[in-house]
Amino acid sequence: MSTLAPGQAAAPAAAVMRPVPARVERVIKETHDTFTLTLGPGGGEPLPRFHPGQFSMLYVFGAGELPISISGDPELPDRLHYTVRSVGPVTYRLVTRQPGESVGVRGPFGAGWPLTEARGKDVLIIAGGIGLAPLRPAVYHILRHRGDFNRLMVLYGARSPQDLLFKKELAAWNLLPDTQCLSTVDYGGVSWRGYVGVVTTLFRYTRLLPSQTVALLCGPEIMMRYATGELEQRGLPRDRIFLSMERNMKCAAGFCGHCQLGPYFVCKDGPVFPYSKMKPYMDQYEL
Ligand SMILES: Cc1cc2nc3c(=O)[nH]c(=O)nc-3n(C[C@H](O)[C@H](O)[C@H](O)COP(=O)(O)OP(=O)(O)OC[C@H]3O[C@@H](n4cnc5c(N)ncnc54)[C@H](O)[C@@H]3O)c2cc1C
Ligand code: FES
Repeated sequence: MSTLAPGQAAAPAAAVMRPVPARVERVIKETHDTFTLTLGPGGGEPLPRFHPGQFSMLYVFGAGELPISISGDPELPDRLHYTVRSVGPVTYRLVTRQPGESVGVRGPFGAGWPLTEARGKDVLIIAGGIGLAPLRPAVYHILRHRGDFNRLMVLYGARSPQDLLFKKELAAWNLLPDTQCLSTVDYGGVSWRGYVGVVTTLFRYTRLLPSQTVALLCGPEIMMRYATGELEQRGLPRDRIFLSMERNMKCAAGFCGHCQLGPYFVCKDGPVFPYSKMKPYMDQYEL
């Protein structure tokens, strides 16, 4: 089964504003504050399919609703995975859901990663912190369709070794042909034997061929600002650098204007945008 092409994964009309009930099947602790939830169908309705880079609005009954990217394999239907960092009241209530409890799911929403455009090219993934979660479905897609892409490079930065997500998967991917995965941390501690420094320091260990590379970035905006600068310096054109932007959301369907960024609604036109469109707005903070 193939993933939906970009633009084809719009939520069915009924799912846009009405949460579909889902059942928590599993909660895995990834780090001290980050958990991956597996959701299965909770009523008669099947869970929707998605394109890598899309997000859902997850409704924790009695607590609130928030946007969370889908972090699982787009070609394993019937289950949705979300990797959530507990930063406030609603994310806390989400990650402390118990197996068997319900969560409402709206979506999927937004334009995902441009995997059709990336076919035949090297794919450079640059992630910071929880930003690796929305990129993991893109990695799964590339690995399932390995012949459609050239080299895959994943550069990942986190605050400390304890904050690194998906460590076993990154190590396993790094052993695959034409695949390089490097991680770095801001503070290593005495037992850390890996790289220390911001994610852009990893560029020196990769061979970037600007004429045949597509870059996909997700993480704190400060990280994306430095990484885009570095990529431009190395000759990568702005329309082959793609960023996932985060803005506060309410409707997620292009109605309320909460997520507006210049002429764009991040929920509908994004969250993934080419850097050529985002460059003027990179320094614009949320109101
Ligand atoms: C398209 C999209 C996809 C997202 N995907 C994920 C994901 O896969 N996993 C995940 O853990 N989170 C993701 N987020 C962020 C997540 O929605 C917020 O962390 C959540 O809304 C916080 O809600 P809260 O009530 O727990 O905390 P709040 O009380 O609302 O916030 C707690 C702290 O987190 C900060 N915060 C709130 N929202 C954001 C945000 N959007 N970005 C950065 N900081 C924020 C606040 O400023 C505050 O300091 C995504 C956001 C968007 C817009
Ligand atoms: S969240 Fe309502 S328009 Fe984007």
